[in-house]
Amino acid sequence: MSGNIKLQICDTAAAVATAAATAFADLIRTRPEAVIGLATGSTPEATYSEMARMHKEDGLTMAAVTSFNLDEYWGLGGDHKQSYRYFMNDRLFRHVDIRPWNTHVLNGKARFPGLECRSFEDRILAAGGVDLWLLGIGGNGHIAFNEPGSSVDSRTRLVSLTQETIDANSDGRFFSDPSEVPRCALSAGIGTIREARALILLATGAKKADAIAAAVEGPFSPDCPSSLLQDHPDCTFIIDAAAASKLT
Ligand code: PGA
Repeated sequence: MSGNIKLQICDTAAAVATAAATAFADLIRTRPEAVIGLATGSTPEATYSEMARMHKEDGLTMAAVTSFNLDEYWGLGGDHKQSYRYFMNDRLFRHVDIRPWNTHVLNGKARFPGLECRSFEDRILAAGGVDLWLLGIGGNGHIAFNEPGSSVDSRTRLVSLTQETIDANSDGRFFSDPSEVPRCALSAGIGTIREARALILLATGAKKADAIAAAVEGPFSPDCPSSLLQDHPDCTFIIDAAAASKLT
């Protein structure tokens, strides 16, 4: 089944980035104080470059925007080059005019993970909820670090990474060796993500084709966490032709 998931299939990965950046820019221009959700990983990098270009050349201002990121490695501080706080500062925040104090990335070095996760959820509520959250998808169908088996109503919490995710993140793009990858992370839950008013999931490349087919056409099941978006009222997958290649 595909539920409500809307598909936007682009010819190239560059077109995926343009489409995603345009969706965020349209939201921010309509609602300058928008609350946006962001993701890390290779896939959104081109989207962030395009948003930075829109800020520089097209007058897109993010001065009143609040952001929340999906996840952070447990044990890494924001000054660690592989932390997601560092990634966001490096790829997006320093290139636009978003106020640093309005950017919320879970603290991987928090003393009490439970308190940090609850505070993150409270901050989302206090901001009025997330208008549009950007997502990637793992080869195993995960969203954020919600690995297979995560429940539909899971909240922000400390989770363990699967070996597949550890291997995927140590292929030289981020970490060069699996032993360097933290075993745990703080991650927004599937229930947290599903509460966003709109979702955009990005996928590019043939390596994501099985996960996309399972998410869109497979059963609504924690076995494929991204399939748990099927009944979301406003969820769009923006994917390239290679990632769409296993859809029927
Ligand atoms: P990627 O990661 O964009 O680096 O492929 C996506 C994910 O694991 O969610």
